[in-house]
Amino acid sequence: MKTLIAYVSKYGTTRECATRLQELLGPDAGLADLNEAPKTDVSGYDLVVIGSPVYMGKIQKGARNFCKKNCARLLEKRVAFFVCGFSEKDQAMKCLAGQVPEELLNKAAAIGHFGGEVRPEKAKFIDKVFLEKVQQDETLHYEIDTAAIKAFCEALSGE
Ligand SMILES: Cc1cc2nc3c(=O)[nH]c(=O)nc-3n(C[C@H](O)[C@H](O)[C@H](O)COP(=O)(O)O)c2cc1C
Repeated sequence: MKTLIAYVSKYGTTRECATRLQELLGPDAGLADLNEAPKTDVSGYDLVVIGSPVYMGKIQKGARNFCKKNCARLLEKRVAFFVCGFSEKDQAMKCLAGQVPEELLNKAAAIGHFGGEVRPEKAKFIDKVFLEKVQQDETLHYEIDTAAIKAFCEALSGE
């Protein structure tokens, strides 16, 4: 099944998750960075996976725009979504629900939450301040969830 993993990433976590997913899905899966290629063509793919980090409760604009602009074409395909972030799965789902066209979310073959990472060495000043503050919250999760990526891949392959 020809698969496109279209993602947005500010500091690299979502890119790393997209790459790990590509490795699990195999040679028929390709990657597209929507910041570099926002007009990526979805034709020719059977499955399109869209991934974004969550910032201030929202997925990134590049992912939002991609879903909206390609909504009609994506409705004809299999679609799946994943987010990266520190919060619990249901919180991220809430972000997607408000940001991605409802009809796309309703037909998603899988929706994943792959966890988040703190990468303060790369962060802009304002993000660094946020990260230093947020790291004190022990209820949040600060690593990529390898098991979640695997489960997401199995959900896609098992259908
Ligand atoms: C300023 C800022 C705001 C953030 N807001 C959220 C948030 O609302 N929810 C969440 O789950 N994670 C939040 N995060 C965590 C990021 O989603 C996490 O660091 C993620 O790994 C970033 O992915 P990226 O490296 O692909 O950009 C925030 C991080 C920063 C720096």
